[in-house]
Amino acid sequence: MKRRIGILTAGGDCPGLNATIRGVAKAAYEMFDAEIVGIADGYRGLIEGEWQEMKRSQFSGILTLGGTILGSARTPFRNMRLIEDDNVDKVAAMKKNYAAMKLDCLVTLGGNGTHKTANLLAEEGLNVIGLPKTIDNDIYGTDFTFGFHTAVDIATEVIDRIHTTAASHGRTMVIEIMGNKAGWLTLYSGLAGGADVILLPEIPYDIKEVAKCVEKRAKNNKDFSIIAVAEGAMDKKEAKMKRKEREAARAEAGFNGVANRIAKQLSEMVGVEARAVVPGHIQRGGSPSAYDRVLATQFGVHAAQLIKNGEYGVTVALVGNTITHNKLSEIAGIPKLVPADHQMIEVARDMGISMGD
Ligand code: F6P
Repeated sequence: MKRRIGILTAGGDCPGLNATIRGVAKAAYEMFDAEIVGIADGYRGLIEGEWQEMKRSQFSGILTLGGTILGSARTPFRNMRLIEDDNVDKVAAMKKNYAAMKLDCLVTLGGNGTHKTANLLAEEGLNVIGLPKTIDNDIYGTDFTFGFHTAVDIATEVIDRIHTTAASHGRTMVIEIMGNKAGWLTLYSGLAGGADVILLPEIPYDIKEVAKCVEKRAKNNKDFSIIAVAEGAMDKKEAKMKRKEREAARAEAGFNGVANRIAKQLSEMVGVEARAVVPGHIQRGGSPSAYDRVLATQFGVHAAQLIKNGEYGVTVALVGNTITHNKLSEIAGIPKLVPADHQMIEVARDMGISMGD
C-alpha cells in the first residue's frame, strides 16, 4: 500500500511539534510505503504552493528539537474564504496545491484555528487528519494537547525561581503566564509553583480581593506573595465590556499587560513593593519534556495508523489514558476553557489560594 502524505504545522509553535512529525513519519515508513511532503509555514505554504519532498533521514534526530522543522505561521481561519488585495482564492489554491502534490492525505498540526481550517478542507473533500498542538491546552475533545506539559514545566520553573527572590526581598511578584482565552497553563503552573493568587481569563477578578489576600499574608508575617495571572485575565468591570470596548478602555489607560497593571495597583493599594515578570515566548521554546515526547510519539503513530486505515476527517486525541480520535466536524471551533467549577479550582480554593473573585 502506497500513501503520499502532506504535513504542515500551523499557528503558534510549541515544544513537541518535531516529535509529533517524527512519530507520524517513522510509523508511516514502518507500516506502509510512505512518501512525505513537507509544506512550509502552515497553510501559507499550502496556499502558495511552497513544499518539498522529504527524505526519511530528515525525520531523524528531531525528537528533542524545539520549534518546527517545517516552519509555522498564523493564517487566520476568518480570512480563509475572504478574497483579499492579492486576489487569491485561498481555498481553491489549497485544493489545487493538494492535487498538484498528488497527496492521499494532509496532516495538520495545530491549535483551534488550524482545526477550523482543517475541517473546512475536509468539508471541501480533502482527506485531512489533525493533531492537537498548543501550550494553551484549549482544544475540545482531548484531555491534553502536546506542548502543554512542557509549558507547564517551564512556567513552574519561572514561578519557582521568582519565589526565592520574592522571599529574599519581601516583594509581591506578579507573573504573567501565556493564555489569552484559556487559563489551563496558569492554573497548572500556579498550583505547581505554589502561587498565593491565581487569576484566569475564565474567572474575572476584583483587584480588592487580590489586595486582601496580599494584606492577609502580610498580617500573618508572610511579607512576600506570588500571583500567577493569565495574560488574558480581566477584572470584573472589563468582563462586562465587549472586546473592542475593553481594548479601547485599556489603550486609554496606557495598558501595558495585565501583570504590570496589577503590580502597579497593588503597590498603590497595599503599599507593598510589587514587580511584574513576563516570561512570554520562553514558555513556547526549547525541547519538549519527557511527557510531551511520549504523547507526541503516541499521537503521531495514531495518525499514521489512521492513514493506513484510510480514516480521515478526524483529529487525534487523548481521552483518559487512551489515544483516540474525534471527528473534525465535532470539535473544530469549540474552545476548551477552564470550567469555573473544575475540580482543580476547588482544590486551589480549598488550599486557601485566592482566585481573585
Ligand atoms: O496559542 C499559544 C499562545 O502562546 C497563546 O498562549 C498566546 O496568547 C499566543 O499564542 C501568542 O501568540 P503570538 O506568538 O502570535 O504572539
